[in-house]
Amino acid sequence: MGLEDDLPHLQKVIYEKEREKKMPRKIFIFDTTLRDGEQSPGASLNSREKMEIARQLAKLNVDIIEAGFPISSHEDFESVRAIANEVKGPVICALARAVEADIKRAGEALKDTEKPMIHTFIGTSDIHIKGQLRKTREEVLKMAVLAVELAKSYCHEVEFSAMDASRTDPAYLFEVVQVAIESGATVINIPDTVGYAIPDQFSQLIRDIFINVTGVDKIRLSVHCHDDLGLATSNAISAVKAGATQIECAMNAMGERAGNTALEEVVMTIKTRGDYLDAFTDVKTQEIMNTSKLVSRLTGFVIPPNKPIVGSNAFAHSSGIHQDGVLKERTTFEIMMPQDVGLSESELILTARSGRHALRHRLSELGYEISDDQLGKIYETFLSVADKKKQVFDEDLIAIVGDELLAAPQTYSLEYMQVIGGTPTPVAVIGLRKGKEVFREVACGDGPLDAACKAIDKITGVTIELIDYSLNAATKGKDAIGTAMVRVRSNGRTVIGRGASTDIIEASAKAYINAINKILYGR
Ligand code: KIV
Ligand code: ZN
Repeated sequence: MGLEDDLPHLQKVIYEKEREKKMPRKIFIFDTTLRDGEQSPGASLNSREKMEIARQLAKLNVDIIEAGFPISSHEDFESVRAIANEVKGPVICALARAVEADIKRAGEALKDTEKPMIHTFIGTSDIHIKGQLRKTREEVLKMAVLAVELAKSYCHEVEFSAMDASRTDPAYLFEVVQVAIESGATVINIPDTVGYAIPDQFSQLIRDIFINVTGVDKIRLSVHCHDDLGLATSNAISAVKAGATQIECAMNAMGERAGNTALEEVVMTIKTRGDYLDAFTDVKTQEIMNTSKLVSRLTGFVIPPNKPIVGSNAFAHSSGIHQDGVLKERTTFEIMMPQDVGLSESELILTARSGRHALRHRLSELGYEISDDQLGKIYETFLSVADKKKQVFDEDLIAIVGDELLAAPQTYSLEYMQVIGGTPTPVAVIGLRKGKEVFREVACGDGPLDAACKAIDKITGVTIELIDYSLNAATKGKDAIGTAMVRVRSNGRTVIGRGASTDIIEASAKAYINAINKILYGR
């Protein structure tokens, strides 16, 4: 057996030795939001919007921006050219099929940029070679060589993609990759074009490329995974574990069909699990939220709340047990710092499942230092509001606390009320508690609130004059909390009463009772 035949074995030994070194490797982030991302059905960006995104990608510090596909339209050509001339920092890349006209157009668009890269590609699976290209394997091999050589005449950095690599006969794939490297490609990209690969299988393919192709260690081995089966991030990360040093990805997982690998997911996986992957990226992760929001706004693609990293629930804790854990020790239920992706803090979603601990914490963040006794009362009101509304917002809390703190001393409190509006005569039935007794009265009025106030007057015997009345929705939505404010006068003394409830007549009646209590207290 000659040395030639033994090559795969030698390569395997080298591959394993390299893996054993365990030196943290930089993983290059190749962003394709403006090319593959823009191919998302329904997303289309104009040149100005593409420029805005490219500037933000430079702030995010991605290594390569794939700015577009210049042969596809005059607008795309101009947009790639403008980005190439203006955006500094990342390498600016243009896509081209493995045909002369495409490569020339890409070369022209990148003519004046400091760091250009041409990305040329051709289908290598038999399905693509026969079904789409109507060519032979030999012809495709030649096209790959000519394409890389021509691209090389425009710039040093040339990426070659073997489209549909995961469905390509591996022996043929090694051959194509080998000739592309020999023709001068500085990056070889292995796309899972139709999202068909399974993580174990995909990482084995990457390992096999290292073992069967000479010189892979001298270039960058890249992966480009689609999310048809929801495996794009897993496939990309397993490829990194197997030795790939570049990931192609798009912000918010934008891309053809079900999308591309989500940039935010792979970057945060590498940051969070760099210990296991022996890898890092140079991405400024604090810019992730800004970038995600910009891409969402300009493409009109809304981000689902449960989307990893960038969804509005990604750092929000709702269950009582989780909230308690996070308040005691953040890492109990959080593997990333919200600040690392550009959020100010994690969020405790206050719902009927939240405990007193979470409620007190949020109140103290809002500036309320309350006694245990007050907390007990506020918590009861909080639970009744949370039962009616799914989520209790800060504005709800402010209204609840205001109601509680200003309500003391409560000579009278509202036990029940029933109001019938409309014609001919609005009627109110009111029950007020005073100590252990509950007093009941019925009254008619000009409107439901007038009827309620008259029934209250009958019970308390206090004569008051209503000077001012206002009602505000303290929170959003149909189930918002209404806060009522009344200014009343009695025996020359003016007081303000406040009340809050999801029912506006009840909020108003509570405000009225609160004012009466203050008058009685003053006496
Ligand atoms: O999915 C794919 O194969 C591509 C190539 C152009 C890299 O987008
Ligand atoms: Zn793609």
